[in-house]
Amino acid sequence: MATETATSNTMKVHKLVFKAAEKYMRVRKNDVHIPISFYYAMRLTDEYPDADRELVGVAIILHDIGWYSIDEDDIFKKGFQSENFMQSDVRYLHESEGVRLAKPLLKDLGYDEEFIDKVCTIIDGHDTRGFAKSLEDEIVRDADKLWRFTQTGVSVACDWFKQTPGQYCARLHADIIPVLHLKESKQMALKDLEMTERMLQADIL
Ligand SMILES: [Fe+2]
Ligand SMILES: [Fe+2]
Repeated sequence: MATETATSNTMKVHKLVFKAAEKYMRVRKNDVHIPISFYYAMRLTDEYPDADRELVGVAIILHDIGWYSIDEDDIFKKGFQSENFMQSDVRYLHESEGVRLAKPLLKDLGYDEEFIDKVCTIIDGHDTRGFAKSLEDEIVRDADKLWRFTQTGVSVACDWFKQTPGQYCARLHADIIPVLHLKESKQMALKDLEMTERMLQADIL
């Protein structure tokens, strides 16, 4: 019962963070990517009761708000369609801008410096750093990718990367599944991708 109450309190807190971040969600399909990734972050946290649920939720909600500061044309041309796009200038910039915007937002919500630092450590480098710094970081990094395995994720990502659904599903198998941190994430990814490929006729289209 105590755990149920704690979980429902955390849900209320996460709703407040979503509301505070709402204006940063209207770019680059953040308003679709973030809620779906949040759902996976909570599912993964259910598997790891030692993880700080509030921290995971807040970090996944805020991790991409930095895209708000960047010109939309640059986001796609440099951040998605260029060579070595994961190390492009705009990738680093969306991380540092995310940290800059998250600090006052969390302060206004009443969070202390220690919690804000933990969130910002996860945001900073979430795309460009090749390793995770904590269990919470691993969960956020995996949830950030798991949304792509859904039909919605494939649909959105095909536009971003200028690929067909079949090409993008092949890329998920080859490039994304191997870099997931947690075994539960790999299981979820494979299960969702099987359904997505079937629904989208990805072997043909
Ligand atoms: Fe990102
Ligand atoms: Fe993301």
